[in-house]
Amino acid sequence: MALRFYKIYDFQTDGEDVQAILSNRTVEVEGKRICLVRLPEGYFAIDDKCPHAGARLGSGKCTPEGMVICPVHRYQYNVKTGKGLPQQGDYVNHYPVETRKDGVYIGFEKKWWQF
Ligand code: FES
Repeated sequence: MALRFYKIYDFQTDGEDVQAILSNRTVEVEGKRICLVRLPEGYFAIDDKCPHAGARLGSGKCTPEGMVICPVHRYQYNVKTGKGLPQQGDYVNHYPVETRKDGVYIGFEKKWWQF
């Protein structure tokens, strides 16, 4: 799978601590709304739209175990796998995130016209 990476944070302009550890927020990248989570071990990205009823996961909370809790009905999603709790039977897409020297990047699958 070929990926194209997009810069979310630029350490030079945003600073290196632009997002607090154990926080999540909604960022928009290439027209997609993404829930970006920062855990002690790094950044993780999942779809921002909750599959249950469409709330913004970026407005919810995240746990030290890496679960994002939806602010509306409290469904939970693992930021590393995208999987919901077993009783939910659902998932969200998750995306690779790289922290490089100059910033934080998210990878999306390349479309055929981007090769
Ligand atoms: S909208 Fe997210 S749990 Fe219902």
